[in-house]
Amino acid sequence: MLNRRHFLGLSGIAAGTGVLLPVGALTAGQPAPPAQAPPGPAGRAAGPFSVRMPVPPTLGPVARTGDTDIYHLDILPADLELLPGVLTSCLTFGGSFVGPTIRAREGRRVQITYRNRLPEAANVHLHGGHVPADSDGHPMQLIDPGSERRYEYPNRQPGTTLWYHDHSHHAEADHVYRGMHAFYLIEGADEHRYHLPRDEYDVPIAIRDAQFDADGRLVHGDPPNRNVILVNGRPKPYFPVAARRYRLRLLNSSTLRFLKLNFGPLPVLQIGSDGGLLPAPIDRTGTDFPLAAGERVDLVVDFSGQPVGSRFMLTNQGQFTGNDQIEPVLRFDVNRTARDSGRVPDRLRPLPGLPPATVNREVKLSFDLTGQPIGLIDGRPFDADRVDQRIRRGATEIWTITNGDVATKYGPIQHSFHLHMTQFRVLDRDGRPPLPGDAGLKDTIPLPPGTSVRVQATFADYLGRYVYHCHMLEHSSAGMMGQMEIVD
Ligand code: C2O
Ligand code: CU
Ligand code: CU
Repeated sequence: MLNRRHFLGLSGIAAGTGVLLPVGALTAGQPAPPAQAPPGPAGRAAGPFSVRMPVPPTLGPVARTGDTDIYHLDILPADLELLPGVLTSCLTFGGSFVGPTIRAREGRRVQITYRNRLPEAANVHLHGGHVPADSDGHPMQLIDPGSERRYEYPNRQPGTTLWYHDHSHHAEADHVYRGMHAFYLIEGADEHRYHLPRDEYDVPIAIRDAQFDADGRLVHGDPPNRNVILVNGRPKPYFPVAARRYRLRLLNSSTLRFLKLNFGPLPVLQIGSDGGLLPAPIDRTGTDFPLAAGERVDLVVDFSGQPVGSRFMLTNQGQFTGNDQIEPVLRFDVNRTARDSGRVPDRLRPLPGLPPATVNREVKLSFDLTGQPIGLIDGRPFDADRVDQRIRRGATEIWTITNGDVATKYGPIQHSFHLHMTQFRVLDRDGRPPLPGDAGLKDTIPLPPGTSVRVQATFADYLGRYVYHCHMLEHSSAGMMGQMEIVD
């Protein structure tokens, strides 16, 4: 058998666009030799906490009609300063990495036209969005180079933190890795009631890993070498804060890496998860926030009363570094006092009821590792011409999702599960209570090797074909994706 280092370093999966994806991708989350590659001369010289964390720009609508906000956005290459003092070629939404944030309101439609100025096909998926099938960015619904496509988002779902990213089949991992990811926030019609921090105190934060070569180019290679953590696109930045409460919306925008974040001694209330606010805030001071790739968590972090000049670290417990070491990834610098008399109410937004389920399904994620790794769901790789699950519109179903990769020839392999079209509730994990991160409405969850999880979802409103998949995007790129069709 190949030793792991060899395995991680030398093989590749051929992808549709001619891009090579790393076989090492499969074992993300497994111990691996510590990465040695420096982040490049400029990044190394500058040292940690030398750049400020940017907040992604907000995209303004080009027009507003009665109930619709109309946006235009280009998908285009851009050379950007990610590491200090060096330009990196990226694939972007609107020329920034992270792309521009779209701030929608519950009940107001968004109509957005994307023009693809890349030399290759791309598309856009609103992750966590409850949208019609022809606006979902199905992997086969591509925008050709030079063309445009219009997506319609009704925003008829509870206010929450979504994100948008490329989903073009076989290329999604590479496109997202090179920059095509951004926030899409829906403000709930009820949200004013909770007096949550807003405007400059409501900050989306996307955290992900990356590997750079000595010239600052992004390398989409083996996961253990992705040794730079980017926070809103900059390595180990600092962020000046006022001594008050902040709403921080964290997204793990890695294609593979699982994060385990911790705010140290700062008071932290969890107020929401993927699909919106929780019924009540949960005190998570001092606890870890494990986030699978694509997962979000909505927090109120309290800097009130902290002296000007004090500093706090957001840390991550590394999973590709071999020794599970804890490393700081973002520093908060308290640089001003502030008045903030608000507090998070004891009750937030009630969750929708759980109607009785009428259908049970079993879904199993695994790899075929006999040759080049092939991602499978229920033993088959993704086939756009095949419908794997036919679901009646309006039905409530329970899905039992299993990670079958417990004892492969390369050891256990981590997966995650993401469902399009609707949010679900986690009922239990192998008969035991859900994890803290499973609370509320969810669309993306970790699926550790050999475990299974039961989730319940209602498939309302729309007809047509949607996908579900492992959100370790190298895995879905390699076939770990299924297709469902909602029918009348
Ligand atoms: Cu975040 Cu199928 O996507
Ligand atoms: Cu999605
Ligand atoms: Cu997977």
